[in-house]
Amino acid sequence: LERRLVAHMASARTDVTAADLDEAEALLTRSRALRDEVVKLLKYYQFGIDEVSTKIHILRQEFESIHDYSPIEHVRTRLKSAESLLEKSLRRGVALEIPAIRAEIRDIAGIRVTCSFVSDVYWIAQMLSAQPDLRLLQTKDYIAHPKPNGYRSLHLIVEVPVFLSQHVEQVPVEVQIRTIAMDFWASVEHKLSYKYRSAMPAHLAAELDDAARVATELDARMGRLRDEVRPPTVEIVP
Ligand code: GTP
Ligand code: MG
Repeated sequence: LERRLVAHMASARTDVTAADLDEAEALLTRSRALRDEVVKLLKYYQFGIDEVSTKIHILRQEFESIHDYSPIEHVRTRLKSAESLLEKSLRRGVALEIPAIRAEIRDIAGIRVTCSFVSDVYWIAQMLSAQPDLRLLQTKDYIAHPKPNGYRSLHLIVEVPVFLSQHVEQVPVEVQIRTIAMDFWASVEHKLSYKYRSAMPAHLAAELDDAARVATELDARMGRLRDEVRPPTVEIVP
């Protein structure tokens, strides 16, 4: 069907040659093969998400059994679709080959962890980074260094081994760890910047800027309250 469509569209041109048609067909075959390979690749990344999710789940369960609250509010995972991966590769000028795509695009697998307190954000990051089978490829601390628009979050890229029947795949997974306040701000900012694309009206940018300041202040206050209710770390036994 695709070939017939291409031939049909090409036939509307008067200057089309047999060589043009051959070339179009070859390109079509290559692009379909690439898409099939990408779909296969995405399976590995889903396994990577599963591995890191389990690690986070275990840390959460263990923490809950020791302390009287959960360090994690919720965890969300997402796998880039083949379409959006290919679209990003094109946009970034990445060579359309699997090794180049794997090397250049490191947010194919994503996990977002939302915590109540800033201290828990760093705790999760530390615990993950310390695991000997995980390799920390990158840390971006937008909490210590917020983006100019006010965005705050801790981003890690960790590489996790996925054990398959015939070989081991090293899969990078982007882990975004943030507080509820940071997440709330980021979700509103995301909607607004999606709506206004590049041209955010100045008064909205100013509102967002102010909201970011309030979110930071809220995190600081909640942190102080947490310190009040937290039991002393050292028990004094008479
Ligand atoms: P990509 O655009 O994904 O290639 O990211 P990058 O290489 O610039 O990395 P960075 O760690 O800065 O951002 C990765 C992800 O963090 C994004 O895909 C978003 O999910 C999130 N993020 C980064 N900056 C912002 C921001 O200003 N607002 C919101 N809402 N999310 C952001
Ligand atoms: Mg991204």
